[in-house]
Amino acid sequence: MEPLTPRRDVLESIRDYFELECRDGVSRRKDAWRKISGDFIRTPDGSWTLESSPGGEAMHTRSGAITESLEKFVKPAVPSDAERIRVLDLCSGLGYNTAALLDHTGASEVEVDMVEISAETMAAALLVPSPIEAHEIVRSAYEEFLIERGFVCVRTTMGVPKNIHIRVHNDDARRVVAELEAGSYDAIFLDAFSPMRAPELYTVEFISILAELLKSDGVIATYTSAAPFRAALLEAGLYVGRGPVFGRRSGGTLASHDPEMIKTPLGWADERMIALSDAGIPFRDPELSRAPDEIIEIRRRDRMAARNLTRLSSAVKTPLYLGRNVPEDRNGRRVRRNLERAGIMDSMGREACYIICPQSPECICGCGEKGPLNSGERIIMMRRRLEEVMGV
Ligand SMILES: C[S@@+](CC[C@H](N)C(=O)[O-])C[C@H]1O[C@@H](n2cnc3c(N)ncnc32)[C@H](O)[C@@H]1O
Repeated sequence: MEPLTPRRDVLESIRDYFELECRDGVSRRKDAWRKISGDFIRTPDGSWTLESSPGGEAMHTRSGAITESLEKFVKPAVPSDAERIRVLDLCSGLGYNTAALLDHTGASEVEVDMVEISAETMAAALLVPSPIEAHEIVRSAYEEFLIERGFVCVRTTMGVPKNIHIRVHNDDARRVVAELEAGSYDAIFLDAFSPMRAPELYTVEFISILAELLKSDGVIATYTSAAPFRAALLEAGLYVGRGPVFGRRSGGTLASHDPEMIKTPLGWADERMIALSDAGIPFRDPELSRAPDEIIEIRRRDRMAARNLTRLSSAVKTPLYLGRNVPEDRNGRRVRRNLERAGIMDSMGREACYIICPQSPECICGCGEKGPLNSGERIIMMRRRLEEVMGV
């Protein structure tokens, strides 16, 4: 399985167009856009998105691509009052996240590393109409880079302003991050396709490198709320919380070394599922080289191995019934069976209360311990207690 990119047929048309442009030395980009625009999806704020192939997963929310960049990535992660900022834009695609950053920031010096595996996708940004003025700067940076690479031959853009420094990297993000400066980024935008389609960019090992690249108060922002990804952030030693909701059912995720940067904790149900069930088993890629399907298969096996041995089964959301009455229906019978396999005979009993006590403002199990203040500590504490109960 290759890394997932936007639709290959569209990317091939883009490559063909730029080969023609190089042959003729003339830009006919407006015509080229007219020909391929039917394959793109126009979102309500006027910005465009493209689906992946295979999978048909859009690169952005269909509710508004450039608005998502601003609301989910830039506003929650980039300090508004900094004089200088340095940002890592992973999976930079059409360049909307960097464009939204440049539009939003008041910093006098801005440095951005943009990382995108597909040169054709960067070239697509030269054809797609810019949704905001700042996108012209991204187009300039991409065009400059693609001219150096011989992919593009005609210069049409104005160049990047002197106070903005954009470095473009056209490679697998797993290789690029190994070359970047530790402790130097104010914000990292992680905008890969979803975790079950691009798991290689959500593994403990990859996220641990991102954690090293962050400044002590830097923030990682992403749109996904997937449990294995949040588990990987925690395993990388970061504080984790919810990001703003826009265009998708759940909010994204924010992570930082500094707990002060995390304003909204994870929801209680998310904390429970990550702490206590196999849903919180992260993806792994020790050499940063596994293929996506291998990463998914290994996690599937890890989950099966953990079920009923070190973790509750995630089926029928078993952990959410701790401290509650289990209904007398078919699902309820499955919940009870899953709890009994872990040695928990009563969902409201002593063991159950002991495990979930860290989520309660007042002690509910007689341990007398103060509940921790953040999601990460609650998750670690609940997991430890479950393991104790399960005799691990
Ligand atoms: C969800 S889209 C990102 C949209 C983008 N941020 C924008 O503003 O248009 C995911 C992007 O990740 C790229 N990609 C996939 N695998 C990658 C990898 N291993 N390293 C870097 N980029 C990758 C795809 O080509 C695609 O453009």
